[in-house]
Amino acid sequence: MAALSKGTALTAAARPLLAGKTPAKAAKAGRTGTARRARPLRAVRALGGESVVDVLTRQHRQIRLGFLRAALPGPGRRRNFDRLMRLLAVHEAAEEAHVHPVARKTLRHGRDLAARRRREEKEAKRLLVRLWRTGPHGPGYLRRLNEVRRAVGRHAAREEREELAALRRVLSPARLRMLGAEVKLAQAYAPTRPHRWANNEFTNKLAAPVLGPLDRTLDAARRRRSR
Ligand SMILES: [Fe+2]
Ligand SMILES: [Fe+2]
Repeated sequence: MAALSKGTALTAAARPLLAGKTPAKAAKAGRTGTARRARPLRAVRALGGESVVDVLTRQHRQIRLGFLRAALPGPGRRRNFDRLMRLLAVHEAAEEAHVHPVARKTLRHGRDLAARRRREEKEAKRLLVRLWRTGPHGPGYLRRLNEVRRAVGRHAAREEREELAALRRVLSPARLRMLGAEVKLAQAYAPTRPHRWANNEFTNKLAAPVLGPLDRTLDAARRRRSR
């Protein structure tokens, strides 16, 4: 244990010297090692350097606003509906693939907590698929939109209160920023439509490389048709 603490306290430059390298080689290895370690940090900064708590809380606000916009009548309803569906799909996919697994492993009672969130997401996704099939001009659209809004609102409030607040207490600021970058990166490739069976870490990670590009192609085709 003592050896471990001593090792972790070593500076980056001292480690290769102690490993028996010459000063020149050690300097080079030190530079390379530093560069290698700096790469993920640069990636995190490039993705905004925001904590996962801030990213997800901001998206919850955007989702709440998105529900209000999607209820408005008029020619913009389709666009607002599509935006909301996309935001909900990428948001939940990233949470299921990257955030709940961390909560499960690091939080006290994390397993129960993540299971509860996943049950809520499953139910919300069932309603979301029904709303998606109804479409913004279908019969009962506003009723179904309201149904999803209530389910998603309750779920998001619990996530903020129980999961995100606990992650903020337990994880280091650097780990929170790293997770925020992971979420943003995952959302750039995630499916943009609700898929009922993609509802856990494994299925979401499996779905992303296939359904992500497919959904985006379908989205682009729909945008071209509506021009
Ligand atoms: Fe969620
Ligand atoms: Fe969420």
